[in-house]
Amino acid sequence: MPVDVKEGQEVLMTVESLVEKYGKEKSELIPILQQINKKYGYISDTAIEEISVQMNIPTSHIYSVATFYRMLSTEPRGRHVIQFCESAPCHVAGGRFVWQELQKTLGLENGETSQDEKWTLLTTSCLGVCGIGPVIIIDNDIYGNVTAEQIPIILEKYE
Ligand code: FES
Repeated sequence: MPVDVKEGQEVLMTVESLVEKYGKEKSELIPILQQINKKYGYISDTAIEEISVQMNIPTSHIYSVATFYRMLSTEPRGRHVIQFCESAPCHVAGGRFVWQELQKTLGLENGETSQDEKWTLLTTSCLGVCGIGPVIIIDNDIYGNVTAEQIPIILEKYE
């Protein structure tokens, strides 16, 4: 897809200011990618190329880091990202019904984004709060002891 010139300049300036803030050390790559992901909702090819030029890191390495971490995305995501814990303790606590309800209510499968770009649905492994399973995270909000019946009520809170 061709890159919009204005968008390209905006990304260039963002990368420039982040590299200025964090420095060019390879160890700063993850915080820089996190900031870009936070600002744009994902890390575009343009951003990866700019980081490569400015930090002197091969694009293949940046891409592998950006695709390794679940918190980062190289694909556009919805305005709200739902992470559903699919590990065993949450599953045993009834997570399967929560997952089915999420899929049914949103009409999405794992990894998909709704057509109106409101929601992205993802599964994740244990979030470290098994005692309150089943657990979902929407953006930065953690919901514990979630039941299928609560799903429509929880989703309604998000514009
Ligand atoms: S298994 Fe779901 S939070 Fe640990």
